[in-house]
Amino acid sequence: MAQIFLDTAKVEEIREAVSWGVLDGVTTNPTLMMRAGTADLKTNTLEIVDIVQGPVSAEVVSTDVDGMVEEARDILAWSEHVFVKIPSTVEGLKAMKKISAWPHGRINATLIFSANQAYLAARAGASYASVFVGRMDDAGFDGMDVVRQTRAIFDNYGFDCQVLAASIRHPEHVLDALLAGADIITMPFGVLQKMIRSPFTDVGLERFLADWDKVTNSS
Ligand code: G3P
Repeated sequence: MAQIFLDTAKVEEIREAVSWGVLDGVTTNPTLMMRAGTADLKTNTLEIVDIVQGPVSAEVVSTDVDGMVEEARDILAWSEHVFVKIPSTVEGLKAMKKISAWPHGRINATLIFSANQAYLAARAGASYASVFVGRMDDAGFDGMDVVRQTRAIFDNYGFDCQVLAASIRHPEHVLDALLAGADIITMPFGVLQKMIRSPFTDVGLERFLADWDKVTNSS
């Protein structure tokens, strides 16, 4: 079964999605923290962990290997549910290799725009490979192709690393990611809302209730 994550740092959205009973985890990044109006990564991440009780990704802001490893050490100690997001750069790859050697080295390799990057991240021991579908679409490429290629490569070689479809813009992305075999899809709350809403369902429900009203009021 594919897992559904919310791509947000806003606790009220996460609380609402949890109440729907279909939320498995959360991904954040510095931009999402800014949108949630918080600079306190630890407090915000732990509040999210408390609500979702599942995997929550928090991103490092260092760009050198030592800085990333140091930040990861701190972030991963916050909770067993926390995954550390490491950018898929050369320095990031080196950091992933070190962090994944730790017993609790839970890594979400982020900013992936090619299946080659995903392959290298998996080789370096990442648990998740986050493919940025929407940003590739924005630049005129087919982002979902990278999800499909990554799925095929991980299956070919039996990698444990999970394919995470990120940068999701609309419900069609979710559908395509499910068809492509993504393990996890992380999406804004607005996309999750659109997944369940249909005007046909509303009209259908209205008609059922009106007809039932006629039957019960005519007897
Ligand atoms: O969490 C990373 C990714 O999902 C970012 O998405 O919308 O900024 O391209 P976006």
